[in-house]
Amino acid sequence: MDFMLTEEQKLIQQTAREFAENEVAKDAAERDQKEEFPAAHVKKMGELGFMGMMVSPEYGGGGMDTISYTIVVEELSRIDASVGVVCSVNNSLVCYGLEAFGSEEIKQKYLMPLAIGEKLGAFCLSEPGSGSDASSMKTTAELRGDHYVLNGTKNWITNGKNADYYLITAHTDPTAGNRGISVFVVEKTFPGFTVGQKERKLGIRSSDTVSVTLDECRVSQENLLGEERQGFKIAMKTLDGGRIGISAQAIGIAQGSLDAALQYARERKQFGKPLADFQAIQFKFADMATRINAARLLMYQAAWKKDHKMSYSIEAAMAKVAASETAVFASTEAVQIHGGNGYTKDYPVERFMRDSKITEIYEGTSEIQRLVIGRALTH
Ligand code: CAA
Repeated sequence: MDFMLTEEQKLIQQTAREFAENEVAKDAAERDQKEEFPAAHVKKMGELGFMGMMVSPEYGGGGMDTISYTIVVEELSRIDASVGVVCSVNNSLVCYGLEAFGSEEIKQKYLMPLAIGEKLGAFCLSEPGSGSDASSMKTTAELRGDHYVLNGTKNWITNGKNADYYLITAHTDPTAGNRGISVFVVEKTFPGFTVGQKERKLGIRSSDTVSVTLDECRVSQENLLGEERQGFKIAMKTLDGGRIGISAQAIGIAQGSLDAALQYARERKQFGKPLADFQAIQFKFADMATRINAARLLMYQAAWKKDHKMSYSIEAAMAKVAASETAVFASTEAVQIHGGNGYTKDYPVERFMRDSKITEIYEGTSEIQRLVIGRALTH
């Protein structure tokens, strides 16, 4: 067992950290306030090779391992979790799905531009009536001649306003439950595809979240991803990797919270000495650091198993539940350590606390992660 990062992974970490600290940090608070998409940073992430990190170089990607990818998402999210999720969704929910299940034509046409950051992707599974119970979706895709015609509404679509390409799940056989679901690659410009209103959110406000509607949207047969009726398994496998990405986002938020609180506690004096000298505060740091370390090791284990082509659904679920609950815990403690200052927008910890909550909700709630783990243990 080797707990050291490789030289290459250390270099990737340094590149991501410098980019996040020197560029992303500058306007993170302002974009959060204005709910403004980080377009310039997304462009730069494409240039840095962060948008298709695990994609094979043959399709324009970095050919990197999953641990390198988690390092980048963590470093971005340590400064700004909105930028972290834009990167995570494009990499693990869109590029992964296209590379793992797409035809050669799909890979050339859609994966390439996404992997080099020229285009942006979104993943559309949830609907107004189907969240955790993903297979109860109502969107349909009916084959008429050589085209599928899609009808329905998809909700909570991260990157949805700014994306170019969307992976859409729909029933090709509505009578067959989860075995009747298929996945399609839909372009924003396809007639009948409409991007709805942007959600007003508690956190990750600089990332865009929208609903999209499909009204008699014609999609060619070539844009079917994988095989018909395999869509639920494609979505679940894709989400397994996505959950590693959200673990990295959550660990980034937690680490950013710890770093900010440490800096504050060393500078702020009460009762004649720095807060950092009080054992009550040191114990908070001890708990934060211990939980962050534990969650990060779980995440690396899931990433390692994915890279070694082993089953990793359970480890990804464990990593996500541990990391997201650590993010909420650590960011709340960071606000507490900052006292009144932490409750204001003068310090980043209130943003970290707001941003942390979503990690317990999207890409499978903590309850769903526990369901996945619990079922595996008992069946
Ligand atoms: N990999 C491969 N196959 C899988 C799988 C996985 N991880 N999980 C389930 N399957 C297969 C099962 O083996 C089963 O196959 P068979 O029919 O051949 O036996 C089939 O899929 C159905 O599985 P279940 O019976 O377990 O299905 P279920 O209806 O009980 O649901 C669930 C399982 C785990 C609850 C699933 O619905 C789930 O993960 N729900 C949460 C959905 C979710 O994460 N949504 C997030 C939306 S994405 C997002 O957040 C957007 C964003 O932009 C960030």
